[in-house]
Parts: sequence; structure tokens; C-alpha cells
Amino acid sequence: MKSLVLYRSQYGSTEQYARWIQEELSCQSDHIDNLSKYDISDYDLIIVGEGVYAGQLKAAKKLIPIIEEYPDKKYIFFMVGIADMEDQENRDKLYSDLAKAMGSAIEKMKVFFLRGVLDYSKLNFKHKTMMWMLVKYLKGKDEKDLPKDGDQLISTYGKKVSFIDKNSIKPLIEYVREESYK
Ligand SMILES: Cc1cc2nc3c(=O)[nH]c(=O)nc-3n(C[C@H](O)[C@H](O)[C@H](O)COP(=O)(O)O)c2cc1C
Repeated sequence: MKSLVLYRSQYGSTEQYARWIQEELSCQSDHIDNLSKYDISDYDLIIVGEGVYAGQLKAAKKLIPIIEEYPDKKYIFFMVGIADMEDQENRDKLYSDLAKAMGSAIEKMKVFFLRGVLDYSKLNFKHKTMMWMLVKYLKGKDEKDLPKDGDQLISTYGKKVSFIDKNSIKPLIEYVREESYK
């Protein structure tokens, strides 16, 4: 199965996952902004990855016209975030963000959730401000009313937290290999 990996990554974690997937599948990977360089009809499987930023999913939106033009291709989307991806509630929240961004096109996609990096020393001004506002809001809440991961966001504020892990791409790679034999 000929695959193409496309990503949108602001601080490098999604790009790192895309490169690991590219290596495992011996295929090409590129930034989704370079999409026009590729003839999608040449590929059987399109894998798109994106770092999540408070529900904003720009790569997912770029994928919609491709799915409409090539509904018979296979599609995988991987979302990279700092939330605990073992937690079903966190996955459901991210999946509903993706559903909002993609509408019915989401039905064509197999979705995976991977954990990335949050390094405050690298954040741009807009992202630093967003995180500052979020943590200020969380600190104003009673401990019992804190949302999932809220206490962790408070305790790691200003630091670097990294959960990036090559092993976490295994289920995605296995899925691709199973699909290849169908
Ligand atoms: C402003 C901001 C908002 C974020 N929102 C979320 C979020 O809603 N859910 C989540 O799991 N991670 C969130 N993150 C964490 C990023 O998704 C994480 O750092 C990811 O590794 C970024 O991927 P990238 O480096 O490829 O852009 C946010 C980070 C920032 C700076």
C-alpha cells in the first residue's frame, strides 16, 4: 500500500511522529502546506497528523476537499496533544473537536491519539498568553471542580513536559499493515 504522511506541527512533536511513521512504512512525509506538490491519485493511504491547539485543527480542514475528491482512498488522522491519551474522556473530547472541524468527512477516517511535548520556553507570545490565561482560570477553581489534567497543567506551568514516545505509533503501524493485507 503506497502511503503519504502529511503533518502540521508548530513545535516539532507531530513532525517527529510523522518522521517515525515515514521510517516504519518506508514512505514519504511532508508538511501539509506542501500538499500541492503531491498527486493524491498516486497513493492508497493518506496519513495526516496535527498538534492540537484548543480545538483548532487546520490540517484536518485541509483534508476535507481531498476526501471529497478521493472518497475511495484510505485515511488515517493522528492527533498530538499533551493530554493523557489513555484516558477515554480526553480522547472523546479530541475526537469531538475533530468532528467539529471535519463534519461528515470524519467517518472516512481512522483516528489515533499520541502524546507530545509542551515546552514553555519555546512557545510564541500568543501560545504563552493562551496558557497563562488557562492556568489563571484553573487556579481560580476549587480543586474538586478542576477539569481532567487541570492539576497537572498547574503544576507543570512554565516548565517542559515531554511524553513523546516512538512506541506509541505501534498501533497505527499495525493498523496500516493489517489494512495492506485486506
Ligand atoms: C495554546 C496551546 C493550546 C493547547 N491545547 C491543547 C489541547 O486542547 N489538548 C491537548 O491535548 N494539548 C494541547 N496543547 C498541547 C499541544 O498539542 C502539544 O504541545 C503538542 O505536542 C504540539 O504539537 P506540535 O509541536 O507538533 O505543534 C496545547 C498547547 C498550547 C501551547
